[in-house]
Amino acid sequence: MQKINVQLDSSKAQGTDAPNLVVILGTGGTIAGTAESASDNVGYRAAQLGVDQLLAAIPALSPYQLEAEQLAQLDSKDMDFPTWQKLALRVQAHLARPEVAGLVITHGTDTLEETAYFLQRVLAPRKPVVLTAAMRPATALQKDGPQNLLDAVRVALDSEARGVLLAFAGQVHGAEQVRKVHSYKVDAFASVDGNRLAWIEEGHVRWLSQARLMSEPMGTELLASLDCEAWPKVDIIMNHVGATGSIVRALLVQGVDGLVVAGTGNGSLSTELESALREAQAKGVAVLRSTRCDAGPVTSSADALPSAGTLSPVKARVELLLNLLQQKLAIQVGRKQ
Ligand code: SIN
Repeated sequence: MQKINVQLDSSKAQGTDAPNLVVILGTGGTIAGTAESASDNVGYRAAQLGVDQLLAAIPALSPYQLEAEQLAQLDSKDMDFPTWQKLALRVQAHLARPEVAGLVITHGTDTLEETAYFLQRVLAPRKPVVLTAAMRPATALQKDGPQNLLDAVRVALDSEARGVLLAFAGQVHGAEQVRKVHSYKVDAFASVDGNRLAWIEEGHVRWLSQARLMSEPMGTELLASLDCEAWPKVDIIMNHVGATGSIVRALLVQGVDGLVVAGTGNGSLSTELESALREAQAKGVAVLRSTRCDAGPVTSSADALPSAGTLSPVKARVELLLNLLQQKLAIQVGRKQ
């Protein structure tokens, strides 16, 4: 793992006693992307610049104490379990350092909400872990990455910030509620079924709401000794007009541990799809029912397949993965005793 000490002015951004070091972990994404031409906002390659280059391009970061580490360099469509595992363990190690005020993670926008939710559920950190990203590559005329990164550092140093957050387009969102809601606009993220937590104005973080229910961390014991092959196989399927059970049955043949179904409306399913999912459940496959709607919960009922509550299908999948991992770990621990 490449570790970079960023040579910045050593003056303190905060009071003398408060921890004031921000660790920046680079994972790639459009924020580190480059195109041949400055006017090209789509024909670029993500994950080309190192995190040190991203930081060096922002003179306004000079008053801050920063340490940077290139944890991965990928387009987030290819985010994978080994990188998640490494990321969670590195984040945990840095958070344990008393001099660290918080962390910033640069990430691609495409799967950012999954990584954010994963880290929140595993670590539920008291210190802030602030993800940030960009919708325009670093070579663009109107690049959004530098401002987002600067804002993320300020959020990481804010005394009221905690948990896994996203600093993006001048706003701060919580990992539980944030979703990518636009494929092209620079303001691409929103907090669904809740408010954004803060906005950032000239470096000041203006908190709107602190009413954030932080669940208990699942803990990194889950990941520390985990062989990557041991990650469960969990897929997402969708209800739609004419949905049959054929995909579920094909997955059963291949082998699958969990299924999240993005139902219609309040998690409704076609008769054929529901009966295939019940078959899967009877064979030991864990099933969670979410909605393909952009917002809103799936209400639970005793006679329906289990509800994912307010989780989007991708976050429900993370939840199911972690629950299955917990079960595996409990079985392993039980065997050793
Ligand atoms: C990615 O997710 O890595 C590419 C797209 C983006 O960052 O906007």
